[in-house]
Amino acid sequence: MATKSIAELFDLSGKGAIVTGAGMGIGRAIAYRLSEAGASVMIADIDVDAANKTVDKIKARGGKAHAILANTRNIADAEKVAKAAVEIFGSLDILVNNAGIYPLSPAIDTTEELWDRTLDINLKGLFFFCQAAAREMIRAERGGKIINIASIDAVHPMGEVSHYNASKGGVLSLTKALALEWGPHKIHVNAVAPGSVWTPGTEKTRVAREAKGQGVEDLLNKFMGRMPLGRPGAPDDIAKVVLFFASEASDYVTGAMLVVDGGYLLT
Ligand SMILES: NC(=O)c1ccc[n+]([C@@H]2O[C@H](COP(=O)([O-])OP(=O)(O)OC[C@H]3O[C@@H](n4cnc5c(N)ncnc54)[C@H](O)[C@@H]3O)[C@@H](O)[C@H]2O)c1
Repeated sequence: MATKSIAELFDLSGKGAIVTGAGMGIGRAIAYRLSEAGASVMIADIDVDAANKTVDKIKARGGKAHAILANTRNIADAEKVAKAAVEIFGSLDILVNNAGIYPLSPAIDTTEELWDRTLDINLKGLFFFCQAAAREMIRAERGGKIINIASIDAVHPMGEVSHYNASKGGVLSLTKALALEWGPHKIHVNAVAPGSVWTPGTEKTRVAREAKGQGVEDLLNKFMGRMPLGRPGAPDDIAKVVLFFASEASDYVTGAMLVVDGGYLLT
């Protein structure tokens, strides 16, 4: 017999959340949805002006948010952000590891610098943000929800992003490993794997390809041809699924990766 209504299951009032890379794109949409559900949201981004814009928008809608400068490549920032969330919001209950980069580079040309930057931001930083959050969650004995933004690239190579594929494959693997270790503390660790979502980051990729004289039409057509739902994703398509993992509606799910790709991987 269900004991909570649907509204109660998705109510995040009184919860403290962190979203990395929430200054724009998918992260911003996630911050909006968590805030709409009642959470106080720490907007952690390397671009503090963008983070402040997200905060202003949330506050204008009556929500609670705070901007903090953080580079997920800097391990010390993980502890700084987790402690700030506890200090400012009173608790840390939800962490969304969203910050990530996806610069194109054929494997044959990929430099050590690009490999290290991609793996540091997308995987190493994500691990230490998980660790810092879990330490606070274990100390507070309230459990928690960690949601890692992976990618369909975790399981399906797209070409010219082998370094990115490796980082996102690592995110999937880490999600399972941490879910196993932290389940006894009631810390849920799940992943969301977006397909193609139009964001400032993908726009940057388009511009970079065009600068090299390579259009994006061929890529887009290839993508759309494999899209059973007939449209690319919007940031909010991802945010709604993150909300499910952040809420009590997913209380018996851990170590899972939910693909949100309009059916791309089916074809
Ligand atoms: N857009 C897509 O099609 C797509 C598909 C699959 C997965 N993803 C994943 O979703 C996540 C968000 O992607 P997006 O398209 O919204 O990106 P985006 O480039 O539009 O936005 C990324 C945000 O993260 C911030 N950021 C970048 N590096 C950072 C760092 N080192 N520390 C802190 N903040 C940092 C940026 O300032 C920006 O606000 C990434 O992890 C990406 O790999 C995106």
